[in-house]
Amino acid sequence: MNDEIFTHYRDAGILAAKILRDGARDIRVGGSYLELVETVESRVMDEGADLAFPLNVSLNEDAAHDTASTGDERVFANGDVVKLDLGVQIDGYIADTATTVDLGDNPLLVEASREALEAAIKKVRPGVTAGELGVAIQHEIESRGFHPVANLTGHGLDQYIIHQAPTIPNVGITGGAVIKEGMVFAIEPFASTGSGRVGERTRVEIYSQIGIKPVRIPSARQLLEKVRSRRGLPFARRWMQNKKMDLAIAGLVRSQVLWGYPVLSDIAGCRVSQHEHTLIVTEDGCIVTTR
Ligand code: CO
Repeated sequence: MNDEIFTHYRDAGILAAKILRDGARDIRVGGSYLELVETVESRVMDEGADLAFPLNVSLNEDAAHDTASTGDERVFANGDVVKLDLGVQIDGYIADTATTVDLGDNPLLVEASREALEAAIKKVRPGVTAGELGVAIQHEIESRGFHPVANLTGHGLDQYIIHQAPTIPNVGITGGAVIKEGMVFAIEPFASTGSGRVGERTRVEIYSQIGIKPVRIPSARQLLEKVRSRRGLPFARRWMQNKKMDLAIAGLVRSQVLWGYPVLSDIAGCRVSQHEHTLIVTEDGCIVTTR
């Protein structure tokens, strides 16, 4: 990795860490969900950086991939467990980081994903396997009486790419990717009071472009024009600011030009916590960019 790329990762990380901390501090019972999302996202732009994906704010049994819709009227409620997952990019180099705000009484659940993340980070160095990181994550979460979410994983990062090898499991597996110097990846343990598996809801607010096809419908062309600058990174339906775009989006999903990311949730009524950092593997350990 050259110095310029390292600097982009580092600067994106410092910025993401600060904006995530501030965003977490802004969450309170009765506060507007939409206002929080818009405030956090605009802070990223105001700093001259860009979003790697829409701010994910997922409540309670929802583990990931929820964000505000246009005119979203939700407010944070007493008892909510709120996951904030922020992606900042500079020239496509991504810092992906998440934290949990507990508006109820779930300190151990929050501690479980936080300590799982720290335990995994301590193990990162060249030669260790992704499976060994999963063992550490699973141990921290299960020893506190919760389930790690087995079908969500950490993931490698590259310029304009959010998900690539290595996959970092949240449960112990034998083997898995061998960690090498220079790798960049995010580790993101989820701890759940539910089943430890997520399924897809019907709600979809986040999309990315996965294909190129000739498109004739004007609204669809207009939408793809807007999406082009994302270079494959996810965007929010809300960013399109035009209800007419809903039909265009549906058509583009059907023709496999766009991909939708449904909200992912564990069983109804349970609570899920999450913590995430992005790191760069060094000769003898790693540098966490998002502290
Ligand atoms: Co991530």
